[in-house]
Amino acid sequence: MLSVVPTPITVRVPAKVNLHLSVGDSRQDGYHELVTVFQALSLTDEVTVRSSDEPGIEVRGEGSDDVPLDSDNLAWRAVTELARASGRDPDDTGVRVSINKGIPVAGGMAGGSADAAATLFALNALWKLELGRDELADIAGRLGSDVPFALQGGTALGTGRGERLVPVLARHTYHWVIALHGEGLGTPEVYGELDRLRRNSDNRVGEVEPVLEALASGDPRELALLLGNDLQAAAVSLRPVLRRTLRAGVDAGALAGIVSGSGPTCAFLCTDGEDAVRIAAELSGAGVCRTVRVAQGPVAGARLVEEHSDR
Ligand code: C5P
Repeated sequence: MLSVVPTPITVRVPAKVNLHLSVGDSRQDGYHELVTVFQALSLTDEVTVRSSDEPGIEVRGEGSDDVPLDSDNLAWRAVTELARASGRDPDDTGVRVSINKGIPVAGGMAGGSADAAATLFALNALWKLELGRDELADIAGRLGSDVPFALQGGTALGTGRGERLVPVLARHTYHWVIALHGEGLGTPEVYGELDRLRRNSDNRVGEVEPVLEALASGDPRELALLLGNDLQAAAVSLRPVLRRTLRAGVDAGALAGIVSGSGPTCAFLCTDGEDAVRIAAELSGAGVCRTVRVAQGPVAGARLVEEHSDR
């Protein structure tokens, strides 16, 4: 009998920056209660899933040497979770996942979460499961705090661990310069450092409402005044060079700079696209980061790449 091998499916998925990240106290389960505003940026990974006699994960692109290829990879956990949820044997999925990295690894931009979201989205199509966004988001939330947002994209208010989302109106395209550092920071270590710092001084970011109002107005200058991240002090404490990076971006003309999530990536909000290119050039010569990118946001969440290119 002729067996039909399904066509590989490729999904593009965005990085995120937190425009506002308010970290509450540590919960019983070790997580921290968050109030955050995510924005999806035009730095993307591409994830291809295919049926294969050689199941597993392969990773290409920048920083790929630091990405685990076993069950520690969140994308592989996405395969086994979705297999379980759809009545398949999680130890015999017959799936190969190929990841092409454009999002910095361990950079605070949710690259691993993005790959997990893309894998869920792609497998839903490969296995013809026809799960809706809400069902995928439930599974995504079990995989990690940032996975549901990578599915959804745009700009969103996140609560709980960050996994409960409400879309936010953002009228404007914002232009960003992203400064990448060589060595990543571990998210649990950064949360741990924040808990430690808070024993001595407890500065917290303000309320989220003004951030939402600035997004509705669409003026990047207004938004720049309100960017805030409770994890920033902890990331700077663990990686003091970030203080210089943040200052250099503002000296180069950015409206404001912020550590992205748990860092060490820094994101600089710029007036417009031309300014972003100019600031990126200046920052790349300042010796305060490994490399720079320009990006725009918001962009869409995980989506199919129509023409499949076999990479
Ligand atoms: O959910 P995720 O696997 O991305 O979280 C990674 C780690 O970051 C957690 O194990 C926890 O240490 C920390 N974290 C936290 N509070 C959150 C999200 C993450 O403490 N809301």
